[in-house]
Amino acid sequence: MTELSEGRLRVALVGTGAIAHAHAQVLARDPLAEVVAVADPNPAVRDAFADEYAVPGRYDGLDQLLDAETVDVVHLCTPPGLHKDQAITALRSGAHVVCEKPPVLSLKDLDDVLEVAREVGREYAVVFQQRTGTAVGHVQRLLADGTLGRPLVGVCHTLWYRRQEDYYAVPWRGKWATEGGGPLLGLGIHQLDLLGFLLGEWAEVDARAFRLDRDVETEDTSTAVIRFANGAIVSVLTTALAPRQVSYVRVDTTLGTVEVEHLYGHDARSWRLTPAPDVTGGEAPDAPESWTLPTDDEPSGHAPLLRAVYGALRAGEPLPAVAADPHRSLELVTAIYASASLGRPVTQADLAAGSELRDGFLHGIEDRRPMRTR
Ligand SMILES: NC(=O)c1ccc[n+]([C@@H]2O[C@H](COP(=O)([O-])OP(=O)(O)OC[C@H]3O[C@@H](n4cnc5c(N)ncnc54)[C@H](O)[C@@H]3O)[C@@H](O)[C@H]2O)c1
Repeated sequence: MTELSEGRLRVALVGTGAIAHAHAQVLARDPLAEVVAVADPNPAVRDAFADEYAVPGRYDGLDQLLDAETVDVVHLCTPPGLHKDQAITALRSGAHVVCEKPPVLSLKDLDDVLEVAREVGREYAVVFQQRTGTAVGHVQRLLADGTLGRPLVGVCHTLWYRRQEDYYAVPWRGKWATEGGGPLLGLGIHQLDLLGFLLGEWAEVDARAFRLDRDVETEDTSTAVIRFANGAIVSVLTTALAPRQVSYVRVDTTLGTVEVEHLYGHDARSWRLTPAPDVTGGEAPDAPESWTLPTDDEPSGHAPLLRAVYGALRAGEPLPAVAADPHRSLELVTAIYASASLGRPVTQADLAAGSELRDGFLHGIEDRRPMRTR
């Protein structure tokens, strides 16, 4: 295994479209990282991006980039259908990989990528930035150590709005082969990931998928009931059809209600903790002091995520919790598609090693059970 560069880490960004800017902006503020090269087959987009961030190396694709450059970290900001092959190529070149969500298009593909990462001794970090920020860290600890009691019920809403004319005009979107799924995989996975970060492992999923309005191959709306291993029951609604957009995750426990309401990122003001009357004695409005959100508030986002990942890479430590375990939200997405397709609840056992459902939630989804349309 090659050693990481001394001093500044040499970074490559692959895919220089919309989200790559979030990566470049964070990396520009890291004195110990340097974006040395970018790759994108669209020369106009690539060169404008490289000019904006003063990146010297400019290539049509990952292979050409790796032939010409030595890099420590490769960021994948490409369409989801490319993530698996590009991650394996980058890992085998000796680089760590930071990959945008969704990590890959199936649990089998995730197994394969993580196997290569183990084999070559490199990390595969996935960007699920809703886990980051000081407030979510605080709430996650309160739930994990029992301070908030036992989780009972919850809500997980991704009510977003994506138009046919622009969002779904991008050729890779709305198709099973290239996007891998609909709003559930592309949008709702953020909230499902946060939910799983708060509540831990899931046990059973009962779901439906619908194509109500958009002209896409995939669903545009889905519903699910998730039972978590700790017994909590959560109602999930994910859609690209909601003009007043909101991302909302809520957990009601034996001692109180935890809620976060935002759109694409949250901070302490987005969170609300409401104690049950039993906790306050029914009169006092205040929650116990230990519930108080930290005042040194940092919002969720790519900045805390990449800082934590780069800190671990430099220290040679395992990935931090905010960037590890990409399987859980992909399992939930898989289970929702599988349940909608099979017309029955899906459990962890259904997704065990060797199950055909690990090969991809898409295979024949509509052959099994036509999606409900208008
Ligand atoms: N974390 C988040 O909040 C967030 C937000 C938006 C998008 N994303 C994810 O980021 C990824 C990219 O989404 P986007 O909105 O930036 O898409 P985009 O279409 O704006 O950008 C993708 C870029 O990849 C380039 N590309 C295509 N094929 C390539 C190849 N073989 N090699 C290198 N580059 C190639 C395209 O030319 C394009 O410039 C997706 O996985 C998406 O789900 C994450």
